[in-house]
Amino acid sequence: MSKKLFIQTLGCQMNSLDSEHLLSELKTHKGYTQTEDMNEADLIIINTCSVREKPVQKLFSELGSINKSKKTSAKIGVCGCTASHLGEEIIKKAPYVDFVLGARNISKIKDIVDKKGSVEVDINYDESNYTFGSNGHSLYKTSVNISIGCDKECTYCIVPFTRGDEISIPSDMIISQVQKAVDGGAKEVMLLGQNVNNYGKRFSDGSPKSSFTQLLKDISHIEGLERIRFTSPHPLHMDDEFITEFATNPKISKSIHMPLQSGSTKVLKDMKRGYSKEWFLNRATKIRELVPEVRISTDIIVGFPTETHEDFLDTIDVIEKVKFDQIFNFKYSPRPNTAALTLESIVSDEEASKRLEEVIELHKIHQEELMHKNIGKTIKVLFEELKAGGEVSGFSDNYIQVFVKGSEELLGQIVDVKITSASRTTLKGEVI
Ligand code: 5AD
Ligand code: SF4
Repeated sequence: MSKKLFIQTLGCQMNSLDSEHLLSELKTHKGYTQTEDMNEADLIIINTCSVREKPVQKLFSELGSINKSKKTSAKIGVCGCTASHLGEEIIKKAPYVDFVLGARNISKIKDIVDKKGSVEVDINYDESNYTFGSNGHSLYKTSVNISIGCDKECTYCIVPFTRGDEISIPSDMIISQVQKAVDGGAKEVMLLGQNVNNYGKRFSDGSPKSSFTQLLKDISHIEGLERIRFTSPHPLHMDDEFITEFATNPKISKSIHMPLQSGSTKVLKDMKRGYSKEWFLNRATKIRELVPEVRISTDIIVGFPTETHEDFLDTIDVIEKVKFDQIFNFKYSPRPNTAALTLESIVSDEEASKRLEEVIELHKIHQEELMHKNIGKTIKVLFEELKAGGEVSGFSDNYIQVFVKGSEELLGQIVDVKITSASRTTLKGEVI
């Protein structure tokens, strides 16, 4: 019988891909298979996120309850960003944890899984030339890292301290990985990195400098690949060349993440984001002009220590002007090592909650309005998953989830769908 691995993944898409890599390494080198049932697992891994404080606080109580309910012989590993950040402290506080493996040290899993007490958390460990096996959950799409780490110094963000300096992955490695997935039936690729459009500034194998726009062009030449998506780009690096490629390359999915963080130029300066309110509006307007069907998502932090009510109104103003299709909103959370940690806050927790609520309510109105506009349109959907009640779901080119009545034969196909109804987050339609 094979050994069973249970992985719980928190955080971002980079972390989800790291979990897939952990699984594929443990499968190939150690004979593990995945289980959804923690109680039968021989190895339990928590792949942690440290971007906000709450999940980090909860980690130790969670570990305690896992330790009580697991099989006695089962091992526990803590991986990911909180592993990078807390390192040995995790084993000191929870001595039953068998190993700690930081983000960006994933390829070491095979060496440490059987070494009780191992801690491998080098935040600048260079995995940019390591080829991981694929272990995607979907046959029809794949995710590929294009860079690791982050060279920005956003003053609220812990990531540079958990994922280290930015290194790009050589483009021939990326292309051969995408090609392999396409040969296996994938039609869509998601390119991942903390700051994807800074791609090509530094390689560790001596490859010459390149650019994200060039990478997009090169990847789009792969025959059989239909859709290219990417996250996260930085608004500062959205130059005209990139926007033109985004708008005109038919293989690039017309959905884009533009993490605003704040609409106030003063707060953006305090956050060290490198752009102004005007720059952001200019870029978003240009993208909407060139690509009318584009969907723009964003991240917003309310309650940054220096955010006055006027500053917050600038954020509301940008939301009103851009009308984001999706907003991921957060209350500022002070993080260790970050520059903002030492700032004295002028925003009470109650006020921050009020601002958060205001963003949520305004966004709901925009979502309803934007989603409603799809009714009656015919759009192309890549179907991926069978759902309950005889439905099949997939995603439009601009990344809205669409449901239709149907069966297996739709899976992996890109099909025209006439939209008949809309909720705030999904569409329903009929195959035509
Ligand atoms: N507090 C709140 N939100 C944060 N984010 C990053 N750091 C913090 C923090 N200290 C948010 C940003 C980022 C997203 C991944 O998480 O909006 O874009
Ligand atoms: Fe992802 Fe950042 Fe969380 Fe790490 S800290 S898992 S990079 S969101």
